Amino acid sequence: MIELIKTIEEQVISAIAELDSLRSFEEARQKFLGKKSQLSQLSGKMRDLSIEEKKEVGALLNQTRRSVELALDQKYQEIQTIEDTKLINTGDRTLPARLPRTGAVHPISIIRRRAMESLKTLGFVMAEGPEIETEFYCFDALNTPADHPARNEKDTFYFDSGELLRTHTSSVQIRTMQKETLPLRIMSPGSAYRRDEIDATHLCVFNQLEGLYVTESVGLAELKGVLEAFFMNLFGDDTELRFRPHFFPFTEPSFEIDIKLKVSGKEDKWIEVAGCGLVDPAVFDSVAQLRGDETFSSKNVSGFAFGMGLDRLAMIEWGIADIRDLITGDVRFLQQFA
Ligand code: PHE
Repeated sequence: MIELIKTIEEQVISAIAELDSLRSFEEARQKFLGKKSQLSQLSGKMRDLSIEEKKEVGALLNQTRRSVELALDQKYQEIQTIEDTKLINTGDRTLPARLPRTGAVHPISIIRRRAMESLKTLGFVMAEGPEIETEFYCFDALNTPADHPARNEKDTFYFDSGELLRTHTSSVQIRTMQKETLPLRIMSPGSAYRRDEIDATHLCVFNQLEGLYVTESVGLAELKGVLEAFFMNLFGDDTELRFRPHFFPFTEPSFEIDIKLKVSGKEDKWIEVAGCGLVDPAVFDSVAQLRGDETFSSKNVSGFAFGMGLDRLAMIEWGIADIRDLITGDVRFLQQFA
């Protein structure tokens, strides 16, 4: 039996040396060490042996198994290295590497950053306010009477509590004046919500950037100067811009600003990008009342405010004809900004 085991070991070890692929390797492992292998069968026959013989044969069988395992392990490493080298050598190594997919900054974020960078150079600092607002901050304090159409349930998303999704970022004007000191120059980016019909230029949630400048004395010339400088800086000196008289309850006089949208293959058209005006004295007076002091009383200060639609600005910058492209998350559209 001992002779037999030694012969088997020799045969198995030389068979292992012949192996040359991972596939033949798995079969060989079964064949040499599996339940039906010669070695396993011999282990089964041990029960017929005397105690003395059992000891000797058992030890030899164990040792043989171990050397077969070792030979298999070494062979496995060897085959793997060969197969890896084969793989490397068959590919065309001059092909460019496949780059991992990376994310990109969304166009609205790009334009928001640029706009804020630009306003920062004009001295504006960041201010924030909540998206869920009270009627007071969104309308009353902004001189918007109870019967104003913007307050209608048809136009505004109300909660059962009476609170609402802010319809504009102008509420941040009040919240900031309530706690800050003069002079005040703030910019406030954020979402605003309206129950608009969705079409190529309207969404029911959109992105605004609010601005407010309050000091002892400031007028229309400063308003126009700041906004022109801002838009030229953002879109270039040849930007076509127009100030159109308008009405907002919280500014007087008020304007809407239009910029020419140029989409290749389409006719140029003016699109409205911002509202602005001199802060209405009634707004200052409601802030004075809220604070219980005269810091922001219309007797002591004047100011101008503006609110722009970042989605619209992105449309101007990249000639985007349909605002919905900005929110549908179509990778083919977004990839252009990567
Ligand atoms: N809040 C106005 C809007 O959403 C824009 C605006 C802001 C107008 C500040 C004047 C001053 O349409």
